[in-house]
Amino acid sequence: MLRSVIRGSGSALPKRAVSNAEMAAMVDTTDEWIVERTGIRNRYIAGEGETTATLATEAARQALAAAGIDASEVGLIVLATATPDQTFPASATQVQHALGCNGGIAFDVAAVCSGFLYALSVADSMLKTGMAKTALVIGSETFSRILDWDDRTTCVLFGDGAGAMVLQAQEVDENDPAAPGIIATKLHADGRHNELLYVDGGPSTTGTVGKLRMRGKEVFRHAVTNLAQVLQDVLAHSGYTATDLDWVVPHQANARILDATARKLGLPAEKVIVTVDRHANTSAASVPLAYDTAVRDGRIKPGDLVMFEAMGGGFTWGASLARV
Ligand code: UT7
Repeated sequence: MLRSVIRGSGSALPKRAVSNAEMAAMVDTTDEWIVERTGIRNRYIAGEGETTATLATEAARQALAAAGIDASEVGLIVLATATPDQTFPASATQVQHALGCNGGIAFDVAAVCSGFLYALSVADSMLKTGMAKTALVIGSETFSRILDWDDRTTCVLFGDGAGAMVLQAQEVDENDPAAPGIIATKLHADGRHNELLYVDGGPSTTGTVGKLRMRGKEVFRHAVTNLAQVLQDVLAHSGYTATDLDWVVPHQANARILDATARKLGLPAEKVIVTVDRHANTSAASVPLAYDTAVRDGRIKPGDLVMFEAMGGGFTWGASLARV
């Protein structure tokens, strides 16, 4: 059978790091509150010339280099973002142009913090049906540009960044448990919860970009329940249990969500990749950024069984299991 195999990963961060102490100089907050409630200690904020497309391009270049694959081989780019450079065209087409691999398929996917899971699933399906042989799946965001910098309940939580993976279609023996590639994915959306996490503007309503609004406590509650459930569903569907997992690479929204979800599944905390302390919540970028961090520091190794999961605005949520 054909599977989509992860060949390499990359990531990119803006130059400017912003500590909690710097945030406390801007709004009525403290390092203690942010660390205790979220685990965040630092975030990166895009400066002049740094955009969703430029960060995505840098992450993509790194991923291609790690995979040893030339950009000319890329036939599909799926970019997950809620903060595109322009309302249209898709930022994926700018990445394609910057990489010099014009002519293939390139488009953006909007599922906010779950965007990377949605993008990965779309690319997986397109690779398995032969639409392309080599895909770049990217999550890239500049949330700093849609934050209300006077709202302490949201502005301390988010950061900018990008992560990317190169995937290729490969024939594998489905009876071989060591066969690499994406094994199973489940995605969900529930549009009833729009008002808990949204941006108060858009091309078709206000004609403005708008600012992020969130009722954090309610989002938190839904996140733990939905994530634990979708993780269990993916495990059950693929015939694995939580103890089989080498790593969980979760969306990095809040260290307490990661702890609570792991506890619900009986997963030891050491198996959960945590980068929210360094990067804060980078929305669609957070899963590939965390994955690339753990690959490069040697924790995630070839052959490991890895669960990716995320939950965000919409609500949308999902999980994907892969042997890397
Ligand atoms: O990525 C998409 C998914 N997003 C998420 O998963 C976010 C989920 N939610 C969360 O991570 C948490 O709910 C937050 C970190 C947003 C908030 O933590 P919390 O423990 O739920 O705090 P809270 O909203 O209940 O606020 C507690 C107190 C409030 O004061 P009172 O009403 O108790 O007097 C807030 O006004 O903390 C206050 N507060 C702050 N204090 C200092 C809120 N933000 C701040 C702040 N600094 N930045």
